[in-house]
Amino acid sequence: MKIAILSRNSKLYSTRRLVEAARERGHSVRVLDPLRCYMRIASDGFSMHYKGRQITDYDAVIPRVGASITRYGSVVLRQFELMGTYTPNSSEAILKARDKLRCHQLLAAEGIGMPITVFGDNPDDTQDLLAMLGPPPHVIKLNEGTQGAGVMLTEKPSASRGVIEALRGLYANFLVQEFVAEAKGADLRCFVVGNSVVAAMKRQAPKGDFRSNLHRGGSAKGVRVSATEQDVAIRAAHALGLGVAGVDLIRSKRGPLILEVNASPGLEGIEAASEVDVAGAVLDYVGARFKRGGPRHASPGRPLHEKTAGESYLLKSAS
Ligand SMILES: Nc1ncnc2c1ncn2[C@@H]1O[C@H](COP(=O)(O)OP(=O)(O)OP(=O)(O)O)[C@@H](O)[C@H]1O
Ligand SMILES: [Mg+2]
Repeated sequence: MKIAILSRNSKLYSTRRLVEAARERGHSVRVLDPLRCYMRIASDGFSMHYKGRQITDYDAVIPRVGASITRYGSVVLRQFELMGTYTPNSSEAILKARDKLRCHQLLAAEGIGMPITVFGDNPDDTQDLLAMLGPPPHVIKLNEGTQGAGVMLTEKPSASRGVIEALRGLYANFLVQEFVAEAKGADLRCFVVGNSVVAAMKRQAPKGDFRSNLHRGGSAKGVRVSATEQDVAIRAAHALGLGVAGVDLIRSKRGPLILEVNASPGLEGIEAASEVDVAGAVLDYVGARFKRGGPRHASPGRPLHEKTAGESYLLKSAS
C-alpha cells in the first residue's frame, strides 16, 4: 500500500513509530506536513499539491493532527477523503472529538458513563447551574486546557461561584463537573484500535494532587483493564466514529466514566508503559480495512481487529 502520515514533524516519536511499522509491513510510506498540503477546489476536479508536487494515489492516510492545527488539518484530511483515500479517523470524527462539549453530548446520548457535567453562559444562571450539578467538591475545566492546566478543584459553593465569576470575567469557556473522589487521582488511558483496546496504562497523580497528567508530575504504568472498561472505551471511540483513539476514563462507584477521547493519541507513553507495539496494531488495522475495500472512511463498528489486549503486539517477548 501507499500510505501518507499527516504529521507536522517526522521526528516525533509517534510519527517515527508509524513509519517504522508501515515499512516493516512492506508499505511505501511518506510523512506529509498538513500545513504544506494545498489544494485547488473546483467543480471540474480536485487537486492537492505538496511542496510543488501533485499528491496522487495514496491508498490510506493516517492523520496525526494536533490541537493547534485542527482546522487546517481537517480540511486537508477531508480533501484526501474526497479523493478516495482511506483514513481510520475521518475529518468529521476528529472535529467531533476535539470539541469537548460536543463530545460529551454525543457520548451521553449513547448512554456512555461520564462525570455529570454542566455548562452555561449567563452569570444570572450560575446558582441554578450549580444546583443542577449537586453539592461540591466540583471540578472546573477550561475548554481549551490540556495536560491538566486549567483543571481546578473547588470544595465550597462560594469557591465554585468565585472561580466561575473569574473565568467569565476573562471570557474563558469552561465546564463544571462532579468530582469523582473514588478515582483517587488515577485515570486510565485505553488505546482503542478498531474493536479492541490494544494497550492501556494507568496514570497516577503525585501526592497532594487529583490530576494524573504526566506533565503535572503523574506517573504511568501498564494496567489490565476490565472487560467493562474495554467495552466502554470502544463504544466511546465508535460513538465519535474513530477507528483509532486514546480514551481516558476514571474508575468510579458507578463504573468507568469517560473524561476524554483523543483522536491523535501519542504512542510514546503508552508503548513504554504497556510494552505493546501500538504502532503495529494501527498499521494492521489500516491494512485490513483497506483490503476489505468497503467504506473508504472509518466506520469502525465491525470486528476486524482480531488480536486482543496486546498479546500479539508485545514489544518485548514476555520472559
Ligand atoms: N471529574 C473528575 N473527578 C476526578 N478527577 C478528575 C475529574 N476530571 C478530571 N480529573 C483528573 O484531572 C486530570 C485532568 O483532567 P482532564 O483530563 O479532563 O483535563 P486535561 O488533561 O487538562 O485535558 P485533556 O485530557 O482534554 O487534554 C484527569 O486526568 C483526572 O486525573
Ligand atoms: Mg487529560
